[in-house]
Amino acid sequence: MSGDLNGNKILGAVLATAFVIISVQQVTGAIYHTEAPEKMGYFVDAPEEAAGGAAEAELPPDWGTVLPTADLGAGEAAFARCQACHTATAGGPNGTGPNLYGVLGRPVASHAGFAYSEAMVAHKAEAPTWTYDELDQFLTAPGRHVPGTKMSFAGIRDTQTRINLIAWLRSQGSGGVAVPAPDPARQPGAAPAEDAAGTPEGAGTEAGGPVDDMGQQVPATGAAGQPTTQATMPGQPDSDTTQTNNTAR
Ligand code: HEC
Repeated sequence: MSGDLNGNKILGAVLATAFVIISVQQVTGAIYHTEAPEKMGYFVDAPEEAAGGAAEAELPPDWGTVLPTADLGAGEAAFARCQACHTATAGGPNGTGPNLYGVLGRPVASHAGFAYSEAMVAHKAEAPTWTYDELDQFLTAPGRHVPGTKMSFAGIRDTQTRINLIAWLRSQGSGGVAVPAPDPARQPGAAPAEDAAGTPEGAGTEAGGPVDDMGQQVPATGAAGQPTTQATMPGQPDSDTTQTNNTAR
């Protein structure tokens, strides 16, 4: 009995896995077939950006969890690549870019004496404040998050480096910006892990029924048995059924 159930579960898991693989192949195939004829540049870039962008959009850092353990020293070191254009000291001068003291929590494009691009001023309408998420997305890819920005900086791909840097920027005049409470929905791996564990189990359990039917052993036996019974008592199938049901109740 338990052997059969285990067999069904394994079979269900195998079928579910096969289904996922086939689905992924079809989706991937659709993307490649759609993109390939147009331009090789898009063909190469689009899947990478789409995958990265989607992952980042779905799972932004869980600031309440990552900030307390952020490496401020590493964040300060990461700021070295900003220093060509920015200072972060209190009352520090504007350079190619605006002074960044207290930038976390500061209104976008608001620093006195700096001539922001039209793009950055326009960005203010959709994102008025430099929140953790806004800084994170801007620093990931400035030109993608604020198209037309005059900050000519490619961006920081590594999430932990951005976290360290933002934690350090917070220590430079933004200590009043609260660290949010941990958000389980943002914890890396939490959502994917639940999906990964839940899908095979759920699919396996559900597949247990269909597998029996698809095996056709039960239906075949029933189909063969009924005609035999009816052939024996051609005139009374209805009453038999009714009596059986009544007895059962
Ligand atoms: C090559 C010069 C340059 C580098 C390098 C650079 N920035 Fe900038 N940054 C700018 C300029 C110019 C602006 C103004 C953008 C605009 O107006 O479109 C800016 C704007 C910003 C803003 C918005 C500030 C505000 O007041 O709204 C932030 C935040 C920022 N930079 C952070 C950084 C950080 C952090 C780094 C390092 C990882 C960095 N920048 C590297 C030139 C630079």
